[in-house]
Amino acid sequence: MPQHPQGHVFYRNMARAYPVIDRGKGVTLYDADGRRYLDASGGPLVVNIGHGVRSVAEAMAAQAAQVAYVHGERFTTVALETYSERLAARVPLPDPRFYYLSGGAEAVEAAVKFARQLQVARGEPARDLVISRWGSYHGATLGTLALSGKPSMRALFAPMFRDAPHIEPPYCYRCPFGAAPADCGLPCARQLEAEILRQGQGRVAAFIAEPVGGATLGAIVPPAGYWPLIRDICDRYGVLLIADEVLTGFGRTGTWFAVEQFGVLPDLMVMAKGAAGGYFPLSILAVRGADVETIRLGHGNFNHGGTFSHHAVGAAAALATIDYLETHDLIARAAALGAMLGLRLLETLGDLPSVGDVRGIGLVWAVEFVANHRTKAPYPAGAHFADRVCERAMDLGVLFYPGHGSVDGVQGDHLLIAPPYVVTEAQLDTIVETLRQAVLDAGEHSQ
Ligand SMILES: Cc1ncc(COP(=O)(O)O)c(C=O)c1O
Repeated sequence: MPQHPQGHVFYRNMARAYPVIDRGKGVTLYDADGRRYLDASGGPLVVNIGHGVRSVAEAMAAQAAQVAYVHGERFTTVALETYSERLAARVPLPDPRFYYLSGGAEAVEAAVKFARQLQVARGEPARDLVISRWGSYHGATLGTLALSGKPSMRALFAPMFRDAPHIEPPYCYRCPFGAAPADCGLPCARQLEAEILRQGQGRVAAFIAEPVGGATLGAIVPPAGYWPLIRDICDRYGVLLIADEVLTGFGRTGTWFAVEQFGVLPDLMVMAKGAAGGYFPLSILAVRGADVETIRLGHGNFNHGGTFSHHAVGAAAALATIDYLETHDLIARAAALGAMLGLRLLETLGDLPSVGDVRGIGLVWAVEFVANHRTKAPYPAGAHFADRVCERAMDLGVLFYPGHGSVDGVQGDHLLIAPPYVVTEAQLDTIVETLRQAVLDAGEHSQ
């Protein structure tokens, strides 16, 4: 397998060599040796419409040939305006407006700054805090690490940022309050109110959370009533609600946006990953038109920047991505195949002692591993169980997305299964069967 461990690029994981991928088509990636991999997570849940979609590549090439870049502070393009019209019809905010950037973390930072500016424009300059959740992920910049609830990524840099107040997540498999999901009374949502009051009324600008917890805890779906209660608390205390849909947006949960499943309207939404399906690094901050107007009347402009904001090629890629999603009815497909995938995971993995929980929605599913099924005790962090499962699955030709630290920030192993929406039923069977084999093999080696 061709690998380049000693070139002039350095990669995040310095302990392994990286295969060279040559091309991709649909759910399959091919390395330079012709080895194939079924991409069962679309990378980190990016490649929603599949690899190698010609219409997206052609739309990008046509836009780049016409005009690739204009300064977003001075000009706009037909590509950007056309895309925004299309997106506005899909985003569940009243009269939505969009600010375009390049990565998820950048858009989260923009959301926080917009929320702060909106509060100041409303005459509430003391509101400078953003509450977030433990077990969340909002990005790797210093600002977004302060929001993220992922201890392993925060520890080294914590002295460098102003930390955000965090509340507990709706992680029902390991409820932080020791409650049972059926009629728990939603202490995880009520904690938001307690935290707002603890910080002092009039101090909190916004609350940010993933509608379905993604990378850090693995596809945690909140119980019924969680989101309406969060919305209600935010309204009562003048706190803006930011839905981080970076991972869940554009159909991953079986609806355009995950918030639609929970019957709440956020004030701000952040999107990235699937927006342009991996064909362009595009992220989007979506806000309500009325709030843009408040800022316009208050300050005259949004105090922000970004050399590559509002990119014409990004807009062309994203427009072609929406076209592809709609032409092939892929979001309904994600919902239908997702239900099937959930059943198959339960049927195929349910008897394995190291499988503690199978959870998910739409086409984002997680398997959480345990060393002891009854006590839910995790494997020791040093056993790297989820990594071993993923490495073994990769040897067998299927790619999953591992995660760690769900129990206490260090211990706890899971992986995400989230293939492109073009996945076939036969490919789902291969994915699930291979996962079973990889879990068995990893378990054998941990004895
Ligand atoms: C919910 C969520 N928000 C933000 C981010 C950060 O996005 P990026 O890695 O593009 O900066 C991620 C990335 O995984 C994410 O899952």
